[in-house]
Amino acid sequence: MQDHTAPQQYQVPSRRAYKHNVLAQPFLKWAGGKRQLLPVIKEYLPQKFTQYYEPFIGAGAVLFSLQPKKSVINDTNGELINCYQVIKDHPEKLLELCQQHRENNSKEYFYLLREQDRKNDFKDRSPQERAARIIYLNKTCFNGLFRVNSSGQFNVPYGNYSNPVIADPAVIRSVSAYLNQRNVRILQGDFAKAVATARKGAFIYFDPPYHPISDTSSFTGYSVNGFGEQEQIRLKEVCDKLTERGCQVLISNSSASLIQKLYSDPNYKIVEVKAKRAINAVASRRGRINELLIHNRYDSKQI
Ligand SMILES: C[S@@+](CC[C@H](N)C(=O)[O-])C[C@H]1O[C@@H](n2cnc3c(N)ncnc32)[C@H](O)[C@@H]1O
Repeated sequence: MQDHTAPQQYQVPSRRAYKHNVLAQPFLKWAGGKRQLLPVIKEYLPQKFTQYYEPFIGAGAVLFSLQPKKSVINDTNGELINCYQVIKDHPEKLLELCQQHRENNSKEYFYLLREQDRKNDFKDRSPQERAARIIYLNKTCFNGLFRVNSSGQFNVPYGNYSNPVIADPAVIRSVSAYLNQRNVRILQGDFAKAVATARKGAFIYFDPPYHPISDTSSFTGYSVNGFGEQEQIRLKEVCDKLTERGCQVLISNSSASLIQKLYSDPNYKIVEVKAKRAINAVASRRGRINELLIHNRYDSKQI
């Protein structure tokens, strides 16, 4: 049994007192992170919504920038979702463990921690230990990737950064306060299930793994299950159901021809935007690329 109850010294602040906090921000580096694109995404938000859903949460750049009153966040990646839950319930214990990792940081220590998910007793480790491990590996591995092999084991090499920040206490405490003071439901699973409760007036931002533009640009290593053509088609079907229900849907994706074709449906509007991509091992390929923002024709500032 996982223990998600708050420790005694940690006082959950009251919901009513909450004010937008800029320090509640992504605590991990994440492939496809939306920080660079935030100003453009903000222009395409609906004017009003009752509830916010982000079924492919990743590092949560859009969630933290909006800090909505009521939201549902989700990802298939169990280690990632465990981090959100632990930050919500045990921020001080997590900071203590991250500090220990920081003090011990070396190439040998990194590989010792990386190896833990290859051992049978990994599932017996506490949620706090697992969260601190992922945050440490994410901040010290090469290029800040989260990548696992076909057995679900973390496989990114050591990054050799001098004195990396593992967990900024102000950020972790602010994220914790946000998750506790606003009504944030944290789910782990498939995107379709996560949006099953969305009602008329809800706003759902989908940021799935992007469909590759070419065979060589493919990056589907977020979790054991890749996100192929069938998944993109299934996502469009889920968007259609949400549209019928009166929900407002915004989708980020690459400008691959499959995506253009899928959303050429008159219910959707496709906008081409420029994005700066940081996660590419070859620095010269980290340039500006075109990607798409697609919405189901709700009233946004741009219409
Ligand atoms: C492009 S990233 C999201 C990036 C995020 N918006 C950010 O700012 O960091 C896509 C996410 O989808 C998750 N994912 C992959 N397949 C999924 C599925 N079937 N259901 C839900 N999440 C999934 C991955 O684990 C990954 O975190």
